[in-house]
Amino acid sequence: MGGKVTVVGAGFYGSTTALRLAEYNIFDTVVLTDILEGKSEGLALDMNQSRAIEGFETRIVGATTTPEGAGYEATANSDVVVITAGLPRKPGMSRMDLIGINAGIVRGVAENIAKHSPQAVIIVVSNPLDEMTALAQIATNFPKNRVMGQAGMLDTARFTNFVAEKLGVKVGAVKTLTLGSHGDTMVPVPSRCTVDGKALSDLLSQSEIDELVDRTRNGGAEVVALLKTGSAYYAPSAAAARMAKAVIEDSGAVMPVCAWVDGEYGISGVYLGVEAEIGRTGIKKVVESKLTDSEVEALKAAAEAVRAKQADVQTL
Ligand code: 2OP
Repeated sequence: MGGKVTVVGAGFYGSTTALRLAEYNIFDTVVLTDILEGKSEGLALDMNQSRAIEGFETRIVGATTTPEGAGYEATANSDVVVITAGLPRKPGMSRMDLIGINAGIVRGVAENIAKHSPQAVIIVVSNPLDEMTALAQIATNFPKNRVMGQAGMLDTARFTNFVAEKLGVKVGAVKTLTLGSHGDTMVPVPSRCTVDGKALSDLLSQSEIDELVDRTRNGGAEVVALLKTGSAYYAPSAAAARMAKAVIEDSGAVMPVCAWVDGEYGISGVYLGVEAEIGRTGIKKVVESKLTDSEVEALKAAAEAVRAKQADVQTL
């Protein structure tokens, strides 16, 4: 056991992430912060009281913070920071509708985090994801490998779940992959999808695959429409927590994440969903794998779409 992770934002996404991280029993401390006075302290107290039942020793510390930076001392010298701060979508909203409001929140949080944890690896989950990841790098001025975003793991997990349900097989038998943006230009990669080693295209028709791809692309909105208040957090927090675990364990696990792309697939200078090796330094390496020509074209289109928006966030 060792190390310290901070989760910024004690909404459902943040608090579920904090609890998952604590239950791994690998960190000394999980810090959970929020601007609502007492919320993270109360949740931390409750989570700590579950330790004797669940059998983990990680201590959870709650801290109230202000946008001006009060309270951030509790986060000092974190090894990993997961930023969940910001508003979730309401039914009918796209993630991009959140860009104005969440940019100010994420910028402020990132600046405060950089002051107190200058060596941290940052995992952004606030939406719109690709843009908020780019903004967090600008606001912290951290090396690009130390700032990444969570989305690809979640989108991939959704795709896997839909394929498993469609075919009535175990999720463990299914391998899928989604790259691109966490939005309209998400790029599910059917050529990398298999079920017990068999190509998905041998098991489902093109229109059935397209249907599952569409459902994956709209996976977040489908949950938002059902919940009516707030957005998904069980699958998203599972993905973010696994990324933080890979960082602290320096595991080198290859995961689909939002990472700075510098030449891979002929794309440069943009944060985009790609596969990458994760470890103590954040993104150790973007892993370029074989895609079909049309998948590479879709990835390039996604890169151009997010590049334009990422240029906008510099001024937000
Ligand atoms: C989702 O897709 C929260 O963006 C996240 O559910």
